[in-house]
Amino acid sequence: PDEDGSLLWLRYAQVQQPGRLKEYREILRHLVVQGTEPPLQRAAEELRAALPSLVGQPLGDGPVDAAGVVLVGTTASPDVARALGAHASRLTDEGYAIVSEGQGAHTRRITVAGRTAAGALRGAFALLRLIQTEQRLMKLAIVSNPAVELRMANHWDNLDGSVERGYAGASIFGFANLPTLTARHRNYARMLASTGMNATVINNVNASPTFLTTDFLTRVVPLAELLRGYGVRLWLSANFASPMVLTKGTANPIPTADPADPRVQQWWRDKASEVYRLIPDFGGFLVKADSEGQPGPEAYGRTQAEGANVIAHALAPHGGRVVWRSFTHSSFSDWAEYQYRIFAPLNGQFADNAVLQTKYGPIDFQIREPVHPLFGALDRTHQMLELQLTQEYTGHNVHAVFLAPMWRTVLDFPTRGPGAPPTVADIVAGRALPGPAGIAGVMNIGDDADWTGYQFGAANTFAYGRLCWQPDADPAALAREWAQMTFRPARGEFVDAVVDILMRSYGAYEDVTSPLGIGYFTDPAGSHFDPAPATTNTQSHFSTATRTGFDRTVATGTGFTGLYPPPWKDVYEDLSTCPDALLLFMHQVPYTHRLHSGETVIEHIYDTHFDGLEAARSFAATWAGLAHGVDAARHADIGASFDAQVDHARLWRDTVVAFYFSLSRILSEDRSWFQV
Ligand code: GCU
Repeated sequence: PDEDGSLLWLRYAQVQQPGRLKEYREILRHLVVQGTEPPLQRAAEELRAALPSLVGQPLGDGPVDAAGVVLVGTTASPDVARALGAHASRLTDEGYAIVSEGQGAHTRRITVAGRTAAGALRGAFALLRLIQTEQRLMKLAIVSNPAVELRMANHWDNLDGSVERGYAGASIFGFANLPTLTARHRNYARMLASTGMNATVINNVNASPTFLTTDFLTRVVPLAELLRGYGVRLWLSANFASPMVLTKGTANPIPTADPADPRVQQWWRDKASEVYRLIPDFGGFLVKADSEGQPGPEAYGRTQAEGANVIAHALAPHGGRVVWRSFTHSSFSDWAEYQYRIFAPLNGQFADNAVLQTKYGPIDFQIREPVHPLFGALDRTHQMLELQLTQEYTGHNVHAVFLAPMWRTVLDFPTRGPGAPPTVADIVAGRALPGPAGIAGVMNIGDDADWTGYQFGAANTFAYGRLCWQPDADPAALAREWAQMTFRPARGEFVDAVVDILMRSYGAYEDVTSPLGIGYFTDPAGSHFDPAPATTNTQSHFSTATRTGFDRTVATGTGFTGLYPPPWKDVYEDLSTCPDALLLFMHQVPYTHRLHSGETVIEHIYDTHFDGLEAARSFAATWAGLAHGVDAARHADIGASFDAQVDHARLWRDTVVAFYFSLSRILSEDRSWFQV
């Protein structure tokens, strides 16, 4: 947090609009919290710290019928139940209600409630959000339930404190120092709870077996308890070979991790019992198997479902789940197909408490990919969508890229064909198949002072949690909330400018990097940051003197388009219907091919790379003019980020334009660039 205690978007400086402040001073005079469960205590702490500061007056203690009371509790409390009336019956377990009683200026009481204490805590953060964004509190009758059951953070944090693909410093968890907790752990839990997330996997999917040792499990207990108070369950990534690795050298070594071996099954059962003795609300295990060197069931001739189920069955008696990743790949010539070929035939074979977690696209978190065909194919398998907040392929902590518009597109995708549900949002909300489902986000936080490595990165963290709660949320509205809460007190034009930058940022990055759905323009071996189109020319695109793109059609290419149901297959297969944005993912075309936009492919590539750099420059210029809306330190720090973005965008433009010119030798029709 800042010196004044402000954290990310949890900033409680006094409300500015005079009319609103007057209203709040009438309505927000006392706090009464009924109930003693930890999430209610956490709600009380947050409100007691925030309200006096936001409203600029002391907060009284009641009584419950005093004028200007904020009453917080669960529906088990008679006062709360009475205040909620019929609204109470609409609450689900984690949802919240915020209801004001009394008329207009005579609003007597605001009740913030959940069916559970964790729900009430979410309501407390929602009330604070309304105040931070200076909304009216009169006549509120809000009932908000999360649409998605598993709203999960995935950290790729290693035992030694490093973070795989992390650009925000070292792990915030301080594994080496556990069980000792610091203020940062608490702030982390506040951050998750404030957006509505309810599950966190604290260690890397490339998991060290050490995370399942008795020593580590014992040391992580206080963290699990802290998180529980904030309505968040702890999960761990598990290494599939753990039964073998952790028994080596003991009196009873198990020489295999074969899921069919009774000793292996017993080991997982014993481990599950041990975990639940220590952490009664433990969420479950996340497993990356048979991928990039990780062990898995393949070595024993077992399927991925058999691998998942041995762990699922061990967790089932305790109410736990296994989340099994579909991100497996080996030596297929087009790895876009690999996961489909492995997992589609296993539809219906996973245990009921197993959930298959699939990245949004078939490649690997590229700036543009088609939605993974597995989502539509697995109609009898519980599924999670995996998103990546850490910007591995989308500019690290240098490019401001607000990813919510991309996530919106993914969630809205109708899996059976244009207009034909279920959408991905239906699937992750459990509307397509009853049972566990959800969204996982590979997190972008570390121990850097600003948490996310560059300050605008926190917009992704915030929007991610909010979208998990409400997958049909409007990205622009989320950008606005984040800007209003982060830069308080912020004037309208300041917020508008920040929202404008955020909403253009995804397109700007796409423009200046990979054109028209080509993946892997970033350096493949190194950090996935700098442009390296020549290096990946035989992997992700096949650019020649006359053509560019990857032919994935059934007719002449790899056949990937055929993995979609016929209506989508037809759309992607046919050049006349394939969307421009995915053209070079699906097809190889001549440089002179005309897009639906009317431009030729080569002209589009040249133009967009100049446009993308211009956009980055405009972000820097806009931000430079916004000094009035933010403290000097944040203004300078964010300004330096935008300057670095411009430099890197220029490198991208020059590299990609030079790459295509050197191959095609086609000059642009638009010579005005040469004055740029
Ligand atoms: C990418 C990433 C790896 C990560 C992997 C995964 O390949 O570069 O660092 O381990 O995804 O999602 O498992």
